[in-house]
Amino acid sequence: MAAHLARRLEGKVAVITGAASGIGEAAARLFSRHGAKVVIADIQDDLAQKVCKELDTSSTTFVHCNVTKEEDLENAVNIAVSKYGKLDIMYNNAGIMGAIKSNILDNEKSEFEKVISVNLVGTFLGIKQAARVMIPRRQGSIIVTGSVCSSIGGVCSHAYTSSKHGVLGLARNATVDLGRYGIRVNCVSPYAVLTQMAFDSLKKMGKEGWDVYSTLNGATLTPKDVAETAVFLASDESKCFSGQDFIIDGGFTIENSGFSLFK
Ligand SMILES: NC(=O)c1ccc[n+]([C@@H]2O[C@H](COP(=O)([O-])OP(=O)(O)OC[C@H]3O[C@@H](n4cnc5c(N)ncnc54)[C@H](O)[C@@H]3O)[C@@H](O)[C@H]2O)c1
Repeated sequence: MAAHLARRLEGKVAVITGAASGIGEAAARLFSRHGAKVVIADIQDDLAQKVCKELDTSSTTFVHCNVTKEEDLENAVNIAVSKYGKLDIMYNNAGIMGAIKSNILDNEKSEFEKVISVNLVGTFLGIKQAARVMIPRRQGSIIVTGSVCSSIGGVCSHAYTSSKHGVLGLARNATVDLGRYGIRVNCVSPYAVLTQMAFDSLKKMGKEGWDVYSTLNGATLTPKDVAETAVFLASDESKCFSGQDFIIDGGFTIENSGFSLFK
């Protein structure tokens, strides 16, 4: 029993987009430790290859994949199937923050479209290509990376918030569509995690750090914490979970700071 729990994804095959860095990289490492074969799909070839080499090269593969291109996602899924025989888990995690401008008048159409293209269209294409090979097997777990910006406003840019609301809506629609075939779809929605994306954003805002987990004193979210949630959703332990948004935010999104008895 203990050995089984130690390798919760034994025999499973996963494609993880955006796995060269941050949350996706942590997921690739943790999925691999739990016995999964992992295809790392990313545009940062050198970083992704380094992650692959550090893991077991017999069970980890890198494929160059720009999630805005359907043929790249089709190729990533095909490589998982040809190399490892099937696809059990599709983790659509690649994302960008884009320009940080709070005033809508400063936002360019091209900037907005770029964020939507990677975060939302990329997730749509990933779900579609995964479904193509999962439907005939009538099983699979699809995970998407949302954000607290999937459910509330005023935290990030208009483009990012729109894209992440879209990702959650898409996950819910896909849950209903693909549930007919035994395929589960869930969303993992973190608040701030100190990854490259977060460092770059802080830099653009001229900040050095943030104190965000004010509701749950002492909590600091790491990429590995997010990856742990993804392992649960990828594993058979979550066989009855579908269509859910797993918000990892230390209680940030449920607090109305304007009406607090506790401060
Ligand atoms: N860091 C946070 O605070 C935070 C909070 C909530 C949600 N998220 C989400 O988590 C996900 C991962 O972000 P992260 O924080 O690990 O950032 P990160 O920058 O460390 O990782 C993002 C990865 O996505 C890849 N990527 C970017 N564009 C791509 C494309 N077109 N095709 C394929 N790969 C591409 C990058 O190369 C990188 O490896 C994103 O969807 C992000 O929106 C992050």
